Amino acid sequence: MVDKKLSTKVELCGIEMDNPVIPASGTFGYGYEFAELYDINCLGTFSFKGTTLEPRFGNPLPRIAECPDGMINAVGLQNPGVDEVIAHEIPEMAKVFHKPVMANVSGFSVDDYVQTVSKLENDPVAGRHIGWFEINISCPNVHGGGMAFGTSPKAAEEVTAAVRKVTKKPMLIKLSPNVTDITEIARACEAAGADGISLINTLLGMRINLKTKQPVIANKMGGFSGHAILPVALRMVYQVYDAVKLPIVGMGGVQSAEEVIEMMLAGATAVEIGAANLVNPFASKEIIEDLPRVMEKYGIKDLKEIIGGAH
Ligand SMILES: Cc1cc2nc3c(=O)[nH]c(=O)nc-3n(C[C@H](O)[C@H](O)[C@H](O)COP(=O)(O)O)c2cc1C
Repeated sequence: MVDKKLSTKVELCGIEMDNPVIPASGTFGYGYEFAELYDINCLGTFSFKGTTLEPRFGNPLPRIAECPDGMINAVGLQNPGVDEVIAHEIPEMAKVFHKPVMANVSGFSVDDYVQTVSKLENDPVAGRHIGWFEINISCPNVHGGGMAFGTSPKAAEEVTAAVRKVTKKPMLIKLSPNVTDITEIARACEAAGADGISLINTLLGMRINLKTKQPVIANKMGGFSGHAILPVALRMVYQVYDAVKLPIVGMGGVQSAEEVIEMMLAGATAVEIGAANLVNPFASKEIIEDLPRVMEKYGIKDLKEIIGGAH
């Protein structure tokens, strides 16, 4: 029998969540697709597909490569664009998900981010359902020579400050792990007004097909994620926890309730589950259901109390 007094509740930027588990952006669509399989209101929340100002058809095929204990994707932010997301995806989502949702936004210029967030913030339906913005700064800055916003403290600061001006909602900045020092990027976001930090996005990787002797992915390289990246993600969450005072949403390779707790001990207030949802669409639900058992096993009564416990 699991102890009924166990608490899995956490608070992320002033919003209480029933549990810390969040399906990660790009692995859970706009939620309603998964609502056909189970009641997604068991989730802490979910982060919807990276939404951009204009519709995007994504990269050429093949754009997925299998790897030991993970996968490489070069989906290329395929999404219908913010206007269609407001007109169709969010109303569909709202029929089946009754908690604040995390709105993941991407862009290729500072203005892209500003316009996309403004549209979501100011639409009455989207504005009511969005709890947090998660600003993905792993995309290349087309006006800045193609370098990802998240690989330069100055560019990260610029996006954060600009988006800060157009939203009153909690704003998490999602960092790229493809940097030498993750803490300087996190500090730049904190200084520019971020309310929280999400990390990590995918690691740049590639595979080569021995028969064709060419890269498996049409784009040659892609984002490596899945169980294999867990130690890298834990290390970065641990470092960022020491570097900033903001709450952290940790992710990268998490696929069990034990690993959710490991991520929280490293410093995460909430934990996203990415590639695991693609292997098993019930992964996030099963992790939530397993949390009380694992808490009991390790003598944890209240999940809030273990955040950063490994420091
Ligand atoms: C197929 C796929 C699509 C993704 N799309 C997005 C996206 O649109 N926006 C974003 O911020 N992250 C995106 N990600 C990154 C994940 O949200 C997550 O940061 C990363 O995969 C690490 O977590 P994991 O190891 O649990 O998958 C995507 C990942 C995958 C596998």
